[in-house]
Amino acid sequence: MAHKDPHSCWTFGSAQITHIDFDLTADFKTRTLSGSAVYRFSKPLENSLELDTRIIDVKGVFSGDGTSRKLEWSLGDETYLGRVLTIRRTENLTALRIEFATSPESAALQWLDPEQTAGKRHPYMYSQCQAILARSVFPCQDTPAVRFTYSVTLRVPADLTAVMAADRIEVKHEDGFTVCRFKMRHPIPSYLFALAIGNITSEKIGSCSSVFAEPEMVQAAAWEFSEVDAMIEGAEAVFGEYIWDNFNLLVMPPSFPYGGMENPTLTFLTPTLMAGDRSLVAVVAHELAHSWTGNLVTNATWEDFWLNEGWTVYAERRILERLYGIEFTHLQAVSGRNDLRAAFKNFGEDSPYTKLKTDLTGIDPDEVFSSVPYEKGFLFIVAVERAVGREAFDGFIRSYIRNFKFSSITTSQFVEYLTKQLPDAAKKVDLNRWIHEPGLPDSAPEFASGMIDDVRNVRVRWDQGERDLRAAVAHWNTHQIVLFLEELPTRLPEADCAALDNLWVAQTKNCEILLPFYCIAAGSSYRKVFPAIRDFLSTIGRGKYLKPLYRTLHENPETRALARELFEEYKDRYHSVGRLAVQRILEK
Ligand code: BES
Ligand code: ZN
Repeated sequence: MAHKDPHSCWTFGSAQITHIDFDLTADFKTRTLSGSAVYRFSKPLENSLELDTRIIDVKGVFSGDGTSRKLEWSLGDETYLGRVLTIRRTENLTALRIEFATSPESAALQWLDPEQTAGKRHPYMYSQCQAILARSVFPCQDTPAVRFTYSVTLRVPADLTAVMAADRIEVKHEDGFTVCRFKMRHPIPSYLFALAIGNITSEKIGSCSSVFAEPEMVQAAAWEFSEVDAMIEGAEAVFGEYIWDNFNLLVMPPSFPYGGMENPTLTFLTPTLMAGDRSLVAVVAHELAHSWTGNLVTNATWEDFWLNEGWTVYAERRILERLYGIEFTHLQAVSGRNDLRAAFKNFGEDSPYTKLKTDLTGIDPDEVFSSVPYEKGFLFIVAVERAVGREAFDGFIRSYIRNFKFSSITTSQFVEYLTKQLPDAAKKVDLNRWIHEPGLPDSAPEFASGMIDDVRNVRVRWDQGERDLRAAVAHWNTHQIVLFLEELPTRLPEADCAALDNLWVAQTKNCEILLPFYCIAAGSSYRKVFPAIRDFLSTIGRGKYLKPLYRTLHENPETRALARELFEEYKDRYHSVGRLAVQRILEK
């Protein structure tokens, strides 16, 4: 099935990278990764080859067929996609070698000063390649439609170590370096290439899982994420065997721009999940779920992103349902519905970015990142499940994964398969309405649970003026508190802010609770907590928090200047993804 990925120079049907052998050295003084990569291809190349790059310093290209002939190359004009590397006279080659170095400004890599780590004594570096940032680490066919295996030899400073989303097969000390060797034996798309370098240690937490983190936090992390075995068991019951051998976790420094990133065998996690009470582990279930929906069955382009994320939110909630019950996951679904409403409001109800299948020609996927593919995608999958019943749907899930594993599919391939396997669903659910039209169908699934009723009842009492609610909310879990806070108006009188502060905030470090409260405080000019907001924004780089908080500060005329001031002061501490996201908000 022919399709074009608007974000890559690779064209469907042309020779694909099948394997890469990297030999790299990380230099923290120049903030570069440099060395070479040997590429192997699925078939002999034509007379020229194009690869995606972005601010990569290409030093030389050589034929890799044993002759090691120097090849001519050039870089195209700079666009939002980077620069296309064209290599000439490649006819009949099946391998070639590129020598290159990354730039200190590589969009994927963040090089951290020791102050930005938990230990404060060692520097740190990590990558974040999804969606189209892998090309700023190495020249590649930076499309989720191309998969390759790889090996890496990585030299890092002697007092540090390296981890990757791959098996670490050797660590040795040589010539003043720590030398680590890695192997990824399963074919992965470029966006799942990942590495981190720092003072990192590990602790075993499950039958195939260890948590990696700086020594200062590894014990707490091991406790927080100790439910992994139960999660894997729950996921396997629904989706089939876990094939990636290990499911390890890496707790990142706080500037990491996402809650989690499903790098295969080594999920990257924000340290803000460490609430001390295991209340935020849904993100772990989510990244684990990507092991099937995303990493095994992958969206063919970023226009099909809902296939990755909608399915994964569905899978995440199936796992959590087994662990914590349906009351809990329905509460999550209702919170997700609130996120979706906010996204519709930000884009405008009729915006094409509220469609599941998007047209991203000329648009950076990061620029339109939102809860739409997540929560509208989730609702769509639930609509299909409810149309055919869970038993039939579970059969479909298994066959879907089995049929498409290790491949990348488009939305229309999914629709075709669904229509064939579950003809009833295709009759009962308006597939076209869900996938190709903006907003939500009126028939979208609804969710009820006692936990939600509890929150809504207290809200009625709040609206009637009652403020002494401590007893009424004493038994609430974190997500009930979050639901209550996120459904309040963001502009409240000072006394109400103080009441909320007393009720929940003064005694918590839980970022999920802090965020909606800080948004209320920002929208209400509740100055008492501004120092705390400043602290928060000075260390935490998670987009889910930065974006709403900066947006609220920016939208309140009384705090607009503060938003700019804080951003100017802290922007260099954020990963490029987070920095650009906030910049776009402040420019509006
Ligand atoms: N793969 C995403 C993160 C991502 C998406 C990175 C697009 C770059 C581009 C990851 O699986 C994710 O969805 N993380 C969420 C957590 C989840 C529980 C919704 C996050 O970071 O908040
Ligand atoms: Zn995800």
